[in-house]
Amino acid sequence: MNTLFKNITSVVPDGAGGFKTIKGDVCVSGELISGVGRVPEGFAADRTIDGAGKLLIPGLINAHTHVYMTVFRNYADDLDFTDWLFGRILPIEDKLVYDDYYWATKLGYMEMLATGTTCSLDMNISINAAPNAQQESGIRAVLSRGLTGGADDPDGGERRLREALEEIETWKGAKGLSFMLAPHAPYTCDPGYLREVAAAADKAALPMNIHLSESLDELKTIREKYGMSPPEYLDSVGVLRRDTVCAHCVHLSESDVALMAARGVSVASNPVSNLKLGNGTANVPAMLKAGINVAIGTDGTASNNTLNMIREMSFMSLLHKGAHGDASLVSAQETFRMATAGGAKALGLEGVTGEIREGLQADLVVLDLDKPWLRPHNDLIASLCYSMNGSEVELTMVAGKVLYEKGEFLTIDAEETVRRVEASCDRLGTRR
Ligand code: NI
Repeated sequence: MNTLFKNITSVVPDGAGGFKTIKGDVCVSGELISGVGRVPEGFAADRTIDGAGKLLIPGLINAHTHVYMTVFRNYADDLDFTDWLFGRILPIEDKLVYDDYYWATKLGYMEMLATGTTCSLDMNISINAAPNAQQESGIRAVLSRGLTGGADDPDGGERRLREALEEIETWKGAKGLSFMLAPHAPYTCDPGYLREVAAAADKAALPMNIHLSESLDELKTIREKYGMSPPEYLDSVGVLRRDTVCAHCVHLSESDVALMAARGVSVASNPVSNLKLGNGTANVPAMLKAGINVAIGTDGTASNNTLNMIREMSFMSLLHKGAHGDASLVSAQETFRMATAGGAKALGLEGVTGEIREGLQADLVVLDLDKPWLRPHNDLIASLCYSMNGSEVELTMVAGKVLYEKGEFLTIDAEETVRRVEASCDRLGTRR
């Protein structure tokens, strides 16, 4: 299937580390972008999409989420982090069964596709539910089973790691799917367990992702137990690596930032989740200044409560200006990079997705520019961060295949998905 986006405005790299818009044809041959601003020789379109009044962007990349948590949307609000996690979320997670995970993940994918996200790094706790949902929906995903373990639960930790490795083996080579190992957090994994997970990551050549320095409680706990900051603790057990993605990183000292920059980790910053759970504001400007690759995540819908990356980009752009009293911080250009190429780099998908460039996977989103709140068209990259809300998404394509168009989901039975997730909530008793 070849698609021609005819004379469309596209956001492309400007060759100097930023982005610019160009107007022209964009061609997709099979799964790949085959022409940007030109039609390659011999190209014949099966479908032509008129680009008038539209903006083409690379699919957005959600670098930290828990997709199955759509089932908990608006279930545990207005609680502080510790009460939220240990009082509400962990107890009800014990009641989830395969079908709950599977349908809630599909609902999450619907929301992502409808708001322009084509790829996510998902920390989940089911086995095979997320890969099945991902394969059927056609969205791109990096999946990881959250791992907790240590001396107080040696068998549980071993089992979870074994199940994660088996799941990865089962889905080897599946289209649009890759995996990481995901030790959950410094406060849910002891040093022995973290070393073991890091050794398993080495053996299987897998990247890792982990929650880090999310709350002040975590800092206190890790300092009391190990006499270190959470990043120092992870470094002492070999978890801070070039291919590790650290989510949140709200509370970092200057030396933590320097350590993480030296180790080359990526950070997935989650501004809305950090605000909602009262955890604070990550010092993203300091991370960017130190040269850390920063990506953007929404976290799960129990702490956001959406998977809408356009909304998240807006918060990312605005938050740091207010927090630091400096309107020049975290520009629209920087935020756009974090939501696209920065996410791809964090997820090990650099050169695969995250840019409109010939040879990359055709993970593309068409936005309708004919909205009153987007007029006049002065700076469309600024518009993405400061004016859009996600409702402008008209078409979402992953690997050259249209998965969402004008309210219709082409690979997901939307009605059944919603019905099944509502049925899960009935069974779980999550309604107020
Ligand atoms: Ni999280």
